[in-house]
Amino acid sequence: MSHRQKPLTLARDEKGSIRVPFFRPSIGDAEIEEVVECLRSGWLTTGPRTRRFEEEFASAVGAKHSVAVNSCTAALHLAVEALGLQPGQAVLVPTMTFAATAEVVRYQGAVPVLVDCESKTLNMDLDDARRKLHEIADGQRLVGRQVEVVGMIPVHVGGRMMDMHAVRDFAARHGLWVVEDAAHALPAAFRAGPGEPWKRSGENTADVTCFSFYANKTITTGEGGMAVTDNETIAARIRQMSLHGLSHDAWKRQAGNNSWDYRIVAPGYKYNFTDIAAAVGLHQLARAEEMRLERQQIAEFYLEKLAAVDQLDLPELPANRIHSWHLFPIRLRLGDLSLDRNAFMELLRQRGVGCSVHWRPLHLHPYYEETFGWRSEHLPVATAEWQRLITLPVFPGMHDEERQHVVDVVVDLCAAHSTSRSWRRAA
Ligand SMILES: Cc1ncc(COP(=O)(O)O)c(C=O)c1O
Repeated sequence: MSHRQKPLTLARDEKGSIRVPFFRPSIGDAEIEEVVECLRSGWLTTGPRTRRFEEEFASAVGAKHSVAVNSCTAALHLAVEALGLQPGQAVLVPTMTFAATAEVVRYQGAVPVLVDCESKTLNMDLDDARRKLHEIADGQRLVGRQVEVVGMIPVHVGGRMMDMHAVRDFAARHGLWVVEDAAHALPAAFRAGPGEPWKRSGENTADVTCFSFYANKTITTGEGGMAVTDNETIAARIRQMSLHGLSHDAWKRQAGNNSWDYRIVAPGYKYNFTDIAAAVGLHQLARAEEMRLERQQIAEFYLEKLAAVDQLDLPELPANRIHSWHLFPIRLRLGDLSLDRNAFMELLRQRGVGCSVHWRPLHLHPYYEETFGWRSEHLPVATAEWQRLITLPVFPGMHDEERQHVVDVVVDLCAAHSTSRSWRRAA
């Protein structure tokens, strides 16, 4: 049975040039056949395939408990709810992240305190986190009001893990819980140094770790997410709140000797996962490392072929990380180019290279600016870096011609729009 599905021909425009999408999911025959079996089985919603997916997932990341839900956003929300986040409290959230990381704090009526990023990794800068905590302790109304900070939600941007030992030490020192937003980090691992043991994201690296199976993530079920934890009480609360706060779910009621007579024990949510999605997830999970290795090869190809381009800063290949390479962000050296990031991206698009930006930082979105008064100068690194960020396509099943096309176009554009004479002459 063939695992992977590659398109038979490359996508081309009317002039015959290759067009590379930003992402193409890698869906094999096994996923398709399992979905068909699930559809024929008579059980479509949360049931036996979801349970199997949860068990296999927990064992893959080294966690004791796992709860599958219908998005990473749902997992993050259930995690902060289970940890008791209350209105008026506050949580450290990186400004360099997707909407979900901060909005779940707002769902609870609490306030995200935005933290700047490290320029090298784009991950949360713990020095800035410390500064923000001190400012709050000094009585500064950083978010327009007095708040009590109770937790933090670090993100592994692009799948390059933060040092979770350092994060947990920081959290312990300040009495915070940690919810790890690992939407990009499956599979990913870190170690303290050469010879030290590897630790996977989710392997007791936080109070709760949350993963995403959105359409363009490292494994996908279309939409979906997983919360993992080693804490049985938190796992039970997350499971219960993922399905209306019921005392037991429909599969248990139908399949076991459990009573039909459930009880509503809390006003929960409708966040449960479906067996149709689990049918896809089981086979995606089995290929997670194989797909990561494919992405790593593409990342290494980009790193080698773009190394000599003076107008770019590239991500590093870190020694003490197993990088998921969900994203490959390049940064333009704007001083060496005659055009800005948006114009560069438009030219990439015209030349058939799908790309994106991860992300416009949260403090530069109207909601966070207007509600909490965040300004560029509060988060200077993210403010500067995002203006030169571009994410190139990286996905398993990418053809050699596609990755070569990406490199050719990026090199061409840098040469054509360089402000340095030697580059113009070389081009
Ligand atoms: C860092 C991060 N966190 C959370 C999410 C939310 O994931 P989901 O779409 O599964 O809710 C995303 C989605 O892109 C993300 O990039």
